[in-house]
Amino acid sequence: MAWRDLRAFLDGLGSGLRRVAEPFSPRFEIAAALREARADAPALLFESVVGHPGWRVCGNLIANRERLARAFETTPAQLAEAYLQRRQQGIEPVGATQVPVKDVVVTQADDLTGLLPILTHHELDAAPYITTGVVLCREPGTGRRGMGIHRMQVHGPRRLGLFLANPPLTLFHAAAEARGEPLEVAVALGLEPAIVVASVCKVGPQVPDKMAIAGALRGEPVPMVPGETVAVEVPARAEVVIEGRVLPGVRQHEGPFGENTGAYFSADSAVIEVTAVTHRREPIYPGLTPWANDVDMLLWLAAGTEMLGQLRAHVAGVADLEIASGTAGFSMVIAVAGTSRSEVRRLIHLALAFDKRLKSVTVVDDDVDIRNPREVAWAMATRHRPAHDTIVITGTDAYVIDPSAAGAGQGSKIGFDATRGGGGAALDKARLEPQALAKARALLGDMMI
Ligand SMILES: Cc1cc2nc3c(=O)[nH]c(=O)nc-3n(C[C@H](O)[C@H](O)[C@H](O)COP(=O)(O)O)c2cc1C
Repeated sequence: MAWRDLRAFLDGLGSGLRRVAEPFSPRFEIAAALREARADAPALLFESVVGHPGWRVCGNLIANRERLARAFETTPAQLAEAYLQRRQQGIEPVGATQVPVKDVVVTQADDLTGLLPILTHHELDAAPYITTGVVLCREPGTGRRGMGIHRMQVHGPRRLGLFLANPPLTLFHAAAEARGEPLEVAVALGLEPAIVVASVCKVGPQVPDKMAIAGALRGEPVPMVPGETVAVEVPARAEVVIEGRVLPGVRQHEGPFGENTGAYFSADSAVIEVTAVTHRREPIYPGLTPWANDVDMLLWLAAGTEMLGQLRAHVAGVADLEIASGTAGFSMVIAVAGTSRSEVRRLIHLALAFDKRLKSVTVVDDDVDIRNPREVAWAMATRHRPAHDTIVITGTDAYVIDPSAAGAGQGSKIGFDATRGGGGAALDKARLEPQALAKARALLGDMMI
């Protein structure tokens, strides 16, 4: 059975959730805690949010594979396969019978930051930013649903900057502007993790309904309800919804904001005029500090595992895929089993072409633990021959938030074949004797070292 909502997921975490009674401010303090929390730390629920009595802020929810697997009610070992298998289906959303997200409806002028504990993350950020807002809309003309996470800067009491760099929202916004019309949007905040993952899964411009993907990932349809002031449906069990209109032809400078790259990025972005806010009683605002563990896990499942499925359909022997943590999806390691050198080269080209974010891919054999950077470095040091096993691709589009390509428009990509490529015994790992290894592990495990 699927998690009913964010609250149900938090309640189900048990000792995997730490309640923080000490007052923490939405200005810098909560973001700092979420960034500093280790991947193996519990999820955090700040119960005393300075300036926002009655509100709570959560974060570090899916910071590691164990908790992400729990969100999908499976095991870490089976998570990628479960995602790929469920992702094949589609379970359409249904009309909601209960609508807690409308417990409180605010349509009169109200200061967004007075109402919601929107976090300010980094020292030089221009303003508070919404980082986990799932932006929902309908394509003008066709009515197809659009859905994705887009950063939003608080520009004023009822005005948000909206950074649009990815489809489908870029396409739907352009279509609305071509008609000279505003694009109605609803920003859902505080969703159970499967819906958040679906909102950022890599689907490209083909625009399937990500809410149906969300239903498939959770195994049950998402209950939806029409917005109060916009013709957009919203998840009935979200914690908060912000409704508004993206103004046609309007751009406003947005940023600087510390991005998922760990560097600041500014843009001239679209603008939302807010028309209503609805929320649950004792609401929980979702925090997510860029360049933190939650982002690594989101990208691994929604972009990396999505790509794993695609690559397997084209190259035999693709075993596993990992996104290097802290790289915003720019760097990836793929493990293969028995794949020839020429097929590894094709794999590298395919991977680099598939994802515009991806800048560097390293392919290793499946005797290398791709989740252990020391092992990947070992494969590069001992099996990779720089002059023969490196592919450089130039003249590609640079990904917009890549600081190394700032202003350039054009980027480049690199692939490393660090497989043994048919090489002989000299490339074998020097292994420990199995019985001695088992004995040593038992001893070290008992001693917790
Ligand atoms: C944490 C996070 C933040 C994101 N922020 C933005 C953003 O500000 N603007 C944007 O256009 N896309 C952003 N995205 C990407 C889209 O929400 C979505 O993942 C993407 O459109 C799907 O990949 P695709 O375009 O390759 O299909 C973000 C993704 C994640 C995981």
